[in-house]
Amino acid sequence: MDLKKMKKLPLLFENNRLWAKSQVEQNASFFKDMAKVQDPNYLWIGCSDSRVPANEIVGLAAGELFVHRNVANLFPHTDFSALSVLEYAVDLLQVEHIIVCGHYGCGGVKAAMQEHGLGLVDNWLRHIRDVYDRFKEELEKMEDPIDRFNRLVELNVRQQLLNVCHTTIIQKAWAKGQPLCVHGWIYDLESGFLKDLNCCVSNVAQLEKIYRLEIM
Ligand code: CO
Repeated sequence: MDLKKMKKLPLLFENNRLWAKSQVEQNASFFKDMAKVQDPNYLWIGCSDSRVPANEIVGLAAGELFVHRNVANLFPHTDFSALSVLEYAVDLLQVEHIIVCGHYGCGGVKAAMQEHGLGLVDNWLRHIRDVYDRFKEELEKMEDPIDRFNRLVELNVRQQLLNVCHTTIIQKAWAKGQPLCVHGWIYDLESGFLKDLNCCVSNVAQLEKIYRLEIM
């Protein structure tokens, strides 16, 4: 083991140097412009999985996508990290689109379908067990475990999308007339393609009555 390398990670710094150089070659004022302001039109809520690099798969450059990632792309109502990202994206950056993107083969969703616990993360993944429980009739009708797994990945995205819509942040924005659309997508690791679940929500009338808030 080369301790000196471990402390410095020279490969990553070399990559960074080349990347910074190539950006300036393409656009001399790239970093000057970037340092002034960010003006992304999209917020991405995705999984931490290293195989789902948000910017790359939608072909957007630095500055074009505001990103929040965690294990299994969850959006619990009381997660202050996620809520703070959402508030900043909606109120300050005024993004028009929020994308909740899950992916087939998600290790977090898979772990939530298993009986044996992993430890602390099970408390986080409990949110997915709740989704399973809500849809267990549909899920347990499926004979192929892969189909059931894929379906739970999709249902989890739909639930997290609704969790985003149920926040005071989104409902306040809609009440003010701010255009805001929340999309549910799935990324397929095996093909590299995105799939739109066609469950986009863009106004309060699309929500169940119990979740609608009258706020200004
Ligand atoms: Co995942």
